Amino acid sequence: MPLLYITRKEHFNAAHQLWDNNLTSDENFALFGKCANPHFHGHNFDLYVCVKGQPDPNTGLVMDLKKLKIIIREEVIDQLDHQNLNLDVSWLKDKMPSIENISVAIWARISDKLPQGVKLHKITLWETQNNFVEFFGED
Ligand code: NI
Repeated sequence: MPLLYITRKEHFNAAHQLWDNNLTSDENFALFGKCANPHFHGHNFDLYVCVKGQPDPNTGLVMDLKKLKIIIREEVIDQLDHQNLNLDVSWLKDKMPSIENISVAIWARISDKLPQGVKLHKITLWETQNNFVEFFGED
């Protein structure tokens, strides 16, 4: 049976600051660049959720992408869009809101919401036009 990978793209705007209280201001800016800006700043995040499975013999679909859209909207987008990722989101509290950490947190929220036979394959999160991370779950 063929194994296929399907992806839904979503988008959110959010603010954050990357800052380690154990480092000096100079060290923070050296490490995090503009993301250390003390008054927060925004990004236009693009989120790609890729799931894998075998197509249903009747529908030909791995999964109804409308259903995947609803899961992503409810679990992630509705909670992150136009929020401050350092302050406003309970499931990101006490985490450095890097795209690495956000991706891992998104994985945990989506992976157990998928229909039987469908598995989460990859979370891809773009922070700028040049920078993105990919998370394939734990080893
Ligand atoms: Ni930033």
